[in-house]
Amino acid sequence: MGPGPSNVAPSVLKAMAAPLIGHLDPRFVELMDEVKAMLRVALETKNEMVFPVSGTGSAGMEFCFVNLIEPGDEVIVGVNGVFGTRMCDVAERCGARVTKVESPWGRIIEPQQIAEALKKTPKPKLIAIVHAETSTGALTPVEEISKLAHDAGAMLLLDTVTSLGGCPVKVDEWKVDALYSGTQKCLSCPPGLSPVSLSPRAMAVATTRKKKVQSWYLDVNLLASYWGQERVYHHTAPITMNYALHEGLRLALEEGLDKRFERHRKNHLALKSALETMGIQYSAQEGHRLWQLNAITVPEGVDEMAVRKKMLNDYSIEIGAGLGPLKGKIWRIGLMGETSSLENVKTFLKAFGEILNSLGRKVDVKAALAAAK
Ligand SMILES: Cc1ncc(COP(=O)(O)O)c(C=O)c1O
Repeated sequence: MGPGPSNVAPSVLKAMAAPLIGHLDPRFVELMDEVKAMLRVALETKNEMVFPVSGTGSAGMEFCFVNLIEPGDEVIVGVNGVFGTRMCDVAERCGARVTKVESPWGRIIEPQQIAEALKKTPKPKLIAIVHAETSTGALTPVEEISKLAHDAGAMLLLDTVTSLGGCPVKVDEWKVDALYSGTQKCLSCPPGLSPVSLSPRAMAVATTRKKKVQSWYLDVNLLASYWGQERVYHHTAPITMNYALHEGLRLALEEGLDKRFERHRKNHLALKSALETMGIQYSAQEGHRLWQLNAITVPEGVDEMAVRKKMLNDYSIEIGAGLGPLKGKIWRIGLMGETSSLENVKTFLKAFGEILNSLGRKVDVKAALAAAK
């Protein structure tokens, strides 16, 4: 119940125990096509260039920047937590001239802030934001920022590592040009692959660059030959991880995206109602709180680390700590994918309540459980 990896679905673990076949085996090629087709459904897109990069979410982040950015390009990045900060670093390493649009950690990037930045940087090549900021629990709405980006002639890049599979991600409707995600959050697979999507416009940018992409491994011009129709050897795909993603996506689509999102929303509300009876507050901006990552404020006088340690050592429950300016101030409770269940909410509440009581902060666990119901 931390910020990811989340619990892996049993059938995903079983799929991973299947014998290996080759990365150019006809059945593996079929499986690649099925993964791409299911990813398009999950991402609500018709984009041709959709596939999982071999590597974790950060590899997907690099994939997007190295393919789209050339030295000297202007980029605007929304920074409201760890991952916006990381995007700036990656963009700068590609030679981009980066304009940061900063919000306090826990708040979203407001369209107005992007509009202001566009006054100073009117012709950026790319505007990048983190949809679900795992470090703070805030969900930044995409549509208005997308419109501002496209009106300015820029592409929109979206980090959906924590959002995909837990709340709507509408690539075509929101006109997202480049996107990366991860397998270990709401898709309930182990870490290891990064689903990515490039729009036809982003593909045109990547294929008509002045200079070669500086990363051979992440160059979409080369990867397209392996993941596209030609099936030319590029690298040995992580076969087992693709089995896992295939099964993780199959489970998500079998449940149905709307039902899955509703499950995440309901379990978030159950946890929230219960925590409120305990006098615990959510820390992210109201109206923009993630269902899958519940960031809550550590009450005055309670030792943040002592609670987390007791959770892990006495109850075998992992929850996350705050990072950067939120270190020691918040806990992050994941209800991602397989982990998002009322059973887990109740198990967490019992453990958390007992620990708070043992530390002298009296809370009514029964009342909290009733509120969760
Ligand atoms: C929003 C977000 N972006 C990017 C990443 C980086 O992904 P990974 O750790 O899989 O490389 C994470 C990881 O937690 C994340 O939560």
